[in-house]
Amino acid sequence: MLFSRRTGLALLSASCWLMPSALAANITVYQPNVALLPSPPPAPGPAKDFEAIIEQFNRLGRSTVWNLVKKIRFEGDSGEPEGMVNLGEERYIVGENHYTNVTASYGKNVIINGTDRTPGAGYAHLAVYDAQGKRIADATLTAPGAIQYHIGGIDYDGERIWATIAQYRPNTTATIISVDPFTLNYQNITSYNDHLGGIVHDKQTNQLSTLNWGARNATTWNLNSGALRHPSSGFSQPLAVVRNPTFFIDYQDCKFLGHSRVYDYRAVMMCSGLATYPNNVTVGGVGIVDTETMVPLSELPLPMVSDLGMPITVNPFDVALVNGTMRLYFLPDQHNSTLYVYEPVQDSPYEY
Ligand SMILES: *[C@@H]1O[C@H](CO)[C@@H](O)[C@H](O)[C@H]1NC(C)=O
Ligand SMILES: *[C@@H]1O[C@H](CO)[C@@H](O)[C@H](O)[C@H]1NC(C)=O
Ligand SMILES: *[C@@H]1O[C@H](CO)[C@@H](O)[C@H](O)[C@H]1NC(C)=O
Ligand SMILES: *[C@@H]1O[C@H](CO)[C@@H](O)[C@H](O)[C@H]1NC(C)=O
Ligand SMILES: *[C@@H]1O[C@H](CO)[C@@H](O)[C@H](O)[C@H]1NC(C)=O
Ligand SMILES: *[C@@H]1O[C@H](CO)[C@@H](O)[C@H](O)[C@H]1NC(C)=O
Ligand SMILES: *[C@@H]1O[C@H](CO)[C@@H](O)[C@H](O)[C@H]1NC(C)=O
Ligand SMILES: *[C@@H]1O[C@H](CO)[C@@H](O)[C@H](O)[C@H]1NC(C)=O
Ligand SMILES: *[C@@H]1O[C@H](CO)[C@@H](O)[C@H](O)[C@H]1NC(C)=O
Repeated sequence: MLFSRRTGLALLSASCWLMPSALAANITVYQPNVALLPSPPPAPGPAKDFEAIIEQFNRLGRSTVWNLVKKIRFEGDSGEPEGMVNLGEERYIVGENHYTNVTASYGKNVIINGTDRTPGAGYAHLAVYDAQGKRIADATLTAPGAIQYHIGGIDYDGERIWATIAQYRPNTTATIISVDPFTLNYQNITSYNDHLGGIVHDKQTNQLSTLNWGARNATTWNLNSGALRHPSSGFSQPLAVVRNPTFFIDYQDCKFLGHSRVYDYRAVMMCSGLATYPNNVTVGGVGIVDTETMVPLSELPLPMVSDLGMPITVNPFDVALVNGTMRLYFLPDQHNSTLYVYEPVQDSPYEY
């Protein structure tokens, strides 16, 4: 059997619905004497300091100068990293994909069964790195041959890591999972009939917001809802699906911030991403986005590229307040990944 079943039932602390069985991670341990997480587990950096992060973000502009405060090479072949959570700069947990067969386009404007390419094949992993970028452990979350093998953006709420495992092609299917960061064991929460590639968890409302292919729309889920536990078909009914009204960038990885007084206590997240326009200009940036409506509330283009030439916002991203200053974390390169940590220079000119 591929995954041994552990305890039959568990409780999600914020609600009382019975969770599906925990699935044991297929884990490789690289540093056996090192804990996966510091104890007690750190509070999530973005949500812990969201008002200060929002206040500082909203002082920046297009001409802000960014200071590279840290650069850490992550050990091993990181495949394609897609999502990342920074745990107090002591641990970095990264969602990575390894492809064993690439997808192939069905041809220009050819759509078969709602999608435009073959399924391809691969594995989704969560890798845990220490402060120096040394690998502590790596857990494969998908079975060999699974059609859903692609992990997207991830979020950490102080207790669980939230992720989506999807087919690696638009308008297909996905499974929402929640992972215990202490063991990397996980639970399948629900299945959906669209691709999902990003997720955040609002602990106050116990809602999830998920983004589909290209973040073209957001699907929200109420974790307290019976519809999630008892889908009438194989797929669950979400709370709502809204169209993303902005096309300047496609978000890749988002982090839940909070219900900010700056935005009338609406729930907001910070998202990083990029888009290549028809004239081949690529624009990357970070924005504060309403989790339910996808309306961008504040946006900043980021021109930085990695030493290997990748736009800094192409894949994983996180944000935290360190010694009172907002830091942005990026992991742009495939296979041989380096973490780039930036702070805005405080006296950057505010220009246009
Ligand atoms: C890899 O994908 C191609 C389609 O892109 C398919 O024809 C081929 O059979 C696949 N190979 C394997 C080993 O699955
Ligand atoms: C499209 O869906 C049908 C019905 O599920 C299936 O038999 C067929 O193989 C699918 N085609 C492709 C190219 O995946
Ligand atoms: C998504 O796929 C379904 C069939 O699988 C199809 O009915 C629907 O039109 C597709 N939607 C888009 C936007 O392509
Ligand atoms: C466990 O993960 C490894 C890759 O890390 C993979 O090669 C292997 O097939 C996986 N085993 C199972 C049973 O899923
Ligand atoms: C969990 O979801 C994955 C898709 O990510 C699927 O391949 C697997 O069969 C599911 N496992 C169970 C026990 O439902
Ligand atoms: C969300 O995206 C899917 C395609 O993946 C599309 O079928 C659906 O119409 C979209 N919904 C909204 C509200 O835009
Ligand atoms: C964009 O780049 C592609 C290949 O990299 C090229 O084929 C295409 O002509 C370019 N388009 C424009 C508008 O420059
Ligand atoms: C925070 O500031 C203190 C005092 O200046 C310094 O010792 C410490 O290294 C700083 N922490 C980080 C993460 O930079
Ligand atoms: C990663 O890149 C660095 C610097 O370019 C190089 O020294 C190193 O050999 C590379 N490692 C791998 C595994 O490719």
